[in-house]
Amino acid sequence: PLVSTAELVTDAQAARSAVAAFNVITLEHAEAIAAGAERAGRPAILQLSENAVKFHGNRLAPIAAATTAVARSSTARLALHLDHVTEVDLLRAAHPEGIGSVMFDASKLSYAENVKATADAVRWGHERGIWVEAELGKVGGKEGEPPLDAHAPGVRTDPREAAAYTAATGVDALAVAVGSAHAMTERTAALDHALITELRDAVPVPLVLHGSSGVPDTEIRRAVAAGMVKINVGTALNTAFTGAARAFLEAHPSTVDPRKYLAPAREAMTGTVAHFLGLLGPLGLP
Ligand code: G3H
Ligand code: ZN
Repeated sequence: PLVSTAELVTDAQAARSAVAAFNVITLEHAEAIAAGAERAGRPAILQLSENAVKFHGNRLAPIAAATTAVARSSTARLALHLDHVTEVDLLRAAHPEGIGSVMFDASKLSYAENVKATADAVRWGHERGIWVEAELGKVGGKEGEPPLDAHAPGVRTDPREAAAYTAATGVDALAVAVGSAHAMTERTAALDHALITELRDAVPVPLVLHGSSGVPDTEIRRAVAAGMVKINVGTALNTAFTGAARAFLEAHPSTVDPRKYLAPAREAMTGTVAHFLGLLGPLGLP
C-alpha cells in the first residue's frame, strides 16, 4: 500500500532503525523497489529526483502516477517522495500529484540564502501537509557539478550550524555531509562516525544519508546504529540494472525485444534493493 514518508521515518526512529529511499528513473525501477521491499519484508521510499523528472520531458505526472500505482498495488508499505528539488515550480507540482514528501535542495546557496529558501519551502509544504527534508553542507557528486573533495573543510555539515538551521527553517529531516558522495560506483566511502554522533545529538530531526551507494555495508550499519534514519540509494540500482542489461545484450546481440533485457535488469535491481533493506534490521545492528 501507499503510505507516507513521515509515517515510515517515525516508525524507523521508534525502532531505532532506518528506512531506505531508492531513486526511481523508469517504471522498472519502481517495480524492482516494490519487489525488493516485498522480498525483504520491509517498507521503502520510492523517490523521484528533479533530474529524473527532467529526463521524462519535465513531466512529473506520468512517472508519479505510475510509481504511485506500483506502490498501491504492492503488499509492502511504500511511500512516494520528490528528491533534490531545486526549482520552486517542481516543488509546487508535488501537491497536485499527491506526493507527501519532498527534499528541497538549496545546498548550493550560501547559508543565509539556503535558510531563507528552505524556510519558504517548509512553510509552503506544511500548509499542505507535506513533509520536507533539506540539505546543509555539501554532499558532492551531483549531476553537472565538478567533483568535490568530501573531506575538504567547509564541505562537512557543522553540528552547531545544523542545529541553528533546523530551528530557523522548521525542516522535518536533515540531509548531512559526513563523507559520502553521490554517484559512486565503488563502495569505498569512509564516513565520519564521530560527526554523525555529534549531529545526532545536536539536531532534533531525523538525519538523512545521501550517496549511500558508495558506502560499504558495515559503514551503513554503523551509521544507522549512530542515528541515521533515512538512507538514500540510487546509483547502486543503476549499476545492477545496466550491468545485467549489458551482459544480456553482449550474450544475445540479435535481441530487439526490450523485455528480454529489461527482465534480468529489473531482477538484478530487485536483488540490490533487498540487499540494502536487509542491512536495516532492528537497531541497525547485524
Ligand atoms: O538522493 C539520492 C541519493 O543521495 C542517491 O545517491 O546515487 O549515490 O546512491 P547515490
Ligand atoms: Zn542525494
